[in-house]
Amino acid sequence: MKAEQNELLTRTGPGTPMGELFRRYWQPILHSWELPANDCPPVRVKCLGERMVAFRDSNGKLGLVDEFCAHRGVSLFFGRNEEAGIRCPYHGWKYDVNGQCVEVPSEPEESGFCKKIKLKSYPLHERGGVIFVYMGPPEQQPPFPEWEFITVKPEHSYVSKRWQECNWLQAMEGGIDSSHVSFLHSGQLNHDPLFKGAKGNQYNLKDKKPVFEVVESDGGLYIGARRNAEDGNYYWRITPWVMPCFTMVPPRGDHPMHGHFWVPMDDENCMAWSFDYHPVRALTKEERSAMEEGKGIHVKVFPVTFRPLQNKDNDYLIDREAQKTVSYTGIKGVRVQDMAVQEDQRGPISDRTTEHLGSSDTGVIATRRRLLGQARALAEGTEPTLPFTPSAYRVHSMAIVADRDVAWEDLMARHMPIAEEQEAAIH
Ligand code: FES
Ligand SMILES: [Fe+2]
Repeated sequence: MKAEQNELLTRTGPGTPMGELFRRYWQPILHSWELPANDCPPVRVKCLGERMVAFRDSNGKLGLVDEFCAHRGVSLFFGRNEEAGIRCPYHGWKYDVNGQCVEVPSEPEESGFCKKIKLKSYPLHERGGVIFVYMGPPEQQPPFPEWEFITVKPEHSYVSKRWQECNWLQAMEGGIDSSHVSFLHSGQLNHDPLFKGAKGNQYNLKDKKPVFEVVESDGGLYIGARRNAEDGNYYWRITPWVMPCFTMVPPRGDHPMHGHFWVPMDDENCMAWSFDYHPVRALTKEERSAMEEGKGIHVKVFPVTFRPLQNKDNDYLIDREAQKTVSYTGIKGVRVQDMAVQEDQRGPISDRTTEHLGSSDTGVIATRRRLLGQARALAEGTEPTLPFTPSAYRVHSMAIVADRDVAWEDLMARHMPIAEEQEAAIH
């Protein structure tokens, strides 16, 4: 990869080609519970290099506005959320959920001064316990994407997020590259309560040389990894990637399905959203408490910052003895293992000019290519059509054992679309 391509893919601040592409899609930004009630404390948010404050006003309306007061730049995180607006604590200027200044107590009212003051603000949409943001041009705002995990009943799903201290792309590339599972996570597959017991684990652990095939989908790609199974069958794990940063992990047995959004906070940090859901049944008490304890794809984090307790400052609590005896990494937790290897791939923004890619990187290469093409097209004035294509969001991951002679595109056509009984579970 050329340095210029790497720059283009990894920079998402305002005005950058990839930043503009991100700004055409709805992104998860907050849990609903972070703004639990009307007039509750405001929350700081950082997304795509922009610093903002979110609040729920006295009427229950959600607002996301520039973090800094238009007067002299004080952080509205310290503001008073009261009487349908957020009031700066320094001189009392007040803003509504659209960022419109509605009161400047230090100026004569008749001057109409406050009407001319407006903070930047973005629309929010709350669904399934998650608050999403659209940060693009108002005239390009697409309909809200009905991801399956937010449309199932609340008892079917669990969502968490964690701050990952690296660029969004190297984090997401881990979500696409399913070959690392046979190595990095090999100590966990048979022990983690949210993975263990699935037959697929044995194929993962036995065949460490999966063959990758990629096909284009409406929304991005389906990335198929094929491993050998018994009786002349193949074990397929199929990972959908939907533009720009949604990936789904193929399921294991009857365990819940899961996946991620890799949302840039700035160029050296991202918020990794992880969701688990079962399309046809409620999560069990045991599953839910395992998720809360940071098992499976979830991580134990500090409140407010969402920084994992195991982080780069403590070397993710690596245990070298465990690495020699019971675990491939010596690091507890599947997602922490990912973070440990991803947060510093020659720095928080990986230098892709020095890589040596192999056949197991087929999915990663195809994803970069599609992103580059879309970002360049948008920079040249061609708006993406995907945000306006609802079918692009109706995807599943899939894990299946099938006869070698069945083409995997056929398998997908048969099993990937959301089945009728699953549709029935969606409300
Ligand atoms: S800085 Fe906010 S009111 Fe003065
Ligand atoms: Fe991983």
